[in-house]
Amino acid sequence: MTPITDAHLTAIDVAELPDLAELGELGTVTGVTLDRAVFDYTASIRFDWRLYRQDISGSIAHVRMLAVAVQDIMPPDDAVAIEAGLREVFSEIDRVRHRLVPIGEDIHSHVELRLRQVLEARFPGRGEDMGRRLHTARSRNDQVATDVRLWVREACVELVRAVCDLQDALIERAALHADAPFPGYTHIQNAQPVTWGHHLHAYVEMLRRDVVRFDAVWHAANILPLGSAALAGTSFPIRRDLVADTLGFSGISANSMDAVSDRDFAIEFASASSILIAHLSRFAEDITLWATSEFGLVRLSSRWAEGSSIMPQKRNPDAAELTRGKAGRVFGHLQHLLVMQKGLPMTYGRDLQDDKEALFDTARTVRGALRALTVATSSLEINRDRAASRASAGYSTATDLADYLVRCGVPFRTAYEVVKRLVMDRLADGRAFADMTSRELREYHPAFGDDALLATTVAASVASRDIPGGTAPNRVSLAVEHSRKHVGEVRLAWASRA
Ligand code: ARG
Repeated sequence: MTPITDAHLTAIDVAELPDLAELGELGTVTGVTLDRAVFDYTASIRFDWRLYRQDISGSIAHVRMLAVAVQDIMPPDDAVAIEAGLREVFSEIDRVRHRLVPIGEDIHSHVELRLRQVLEARFPGRGEDMGRRLHTARSRNDQVATDVRLWVREACVELVRAVCDLQDALIERAALHADAPFPGYTHIQNAQPVTWGHHLHAYVEMLRRDVVRFDAVWHAANILPLGSAALAGTSFPIRRDLVADTLGFSGISANSMDAVSDRDFAIEFASASSILIAHLSRFAEDITLWATSEFGLVRLSSRWAEGSSIMPQKRNPDAAELTRGKAGRVFGHLQHLLVMQKGLPMTYGRDLQDDKEALFDTARTVRGALRALTVATSSLEINRDRAASRASAGYSTATDLADYLVRCGVPFRTAYEVVKRLVMDRLADGRAFADMTSRELREYHPAFGDDALLATTVAASVASRDIPGGTAPNRVSLAVEHSRKHVGEVRLAWASRA
């Protein structure tokens, strides 16, 4: 259960606060006044403010638990007042969001300092002290580890939803074009005919595995570190299970030192995101190639492809190209997180604060790519005639001719050599398979029957690949329907996750 539900801000939305230098003196919860330059360098409020919902949810769960586990220190009435105060601070930040005027160095300090002010205004003479009890039995180290885990969980949910949207767009196109001939390439050389539906469905499959990876990340993040305090745990008899229940964590961390200092789940998030955007980048590259006048296989919609500022005839796949470009920064964030942690001695080090911008930017970049490519996919139009003619070009059904001989009992390697010779001759005289007669075929091998040339049509070629995973239109339709059902199930399974 997430105690706070009325936020407008999703986990991924991004906006930074202005430079802290413009904000005047900010407080620290420790009361220390740092040198201005050092403070500006070490403060994280400019970007971690966006963890306010996660941070306040964590504090509410914590104070509720204190009121059960250590009533002498946290009387239930005080806990109720503190929760109300926290909710007020939440609404306050939620209203202004990136226009927040912070009073603390990070989101944890801001919330605590502001809570104390709010409580003192409401309970003059004792509100400040009330607020000062909130941090009993915890440290910012387990607090921030909790916040980031909550954030990663949410970000996984948002990205999976966006992945499902793209899958649905691909599925819709693939179902419509399950039998549309399309050139299939290896080495960007025309290789064998496929259907456009089959090609598009390949991306549905890649994305399906991406969801599996985000599922694993979600589970990795779904362990509660709170209760680990600074590094050694706490001397108070707290009930960590209650906090885990309130925040919807499936369990609690087993070692306090591990819990405050490892961000492996963040690396896993960046890794799953990197693989996802690598897939998106490949799709973007496909679209870009298909849309060139040289390939001419698809038409781009003016809904997402921009014109050139000088060349009136142009329609450029900008969003696809940006996806290709932005993949690099997501890989960079993964690298950053790995390097940030590899030399960190146990336990917490301030280095860990630097996980946030990498995480936030990773999620925003990947979500942006998913959304743009979803629009691109649903408006992508195939040039059917051009695709069909390219599908049959370059003797792309030569394998089918060899397979024909194999069916007549010729060993494949021999059949391969026969057809290779035949193709070499056609390349020399420039004639297509369809221009040949059965008699001419038999000059290459006596087993060629009158029906052999039929095997060289694109329609026969794709229809013959009628095995699970093959490009035969009926197989593509089946696979696409299977995916449609699967995506529906994934949506349902993730709908209840925070
Ligand atoms: N802003 C810090 C971070 O993100 C919070 C934890 C600070 N802890 C500390 N021991 N200084 O990591």
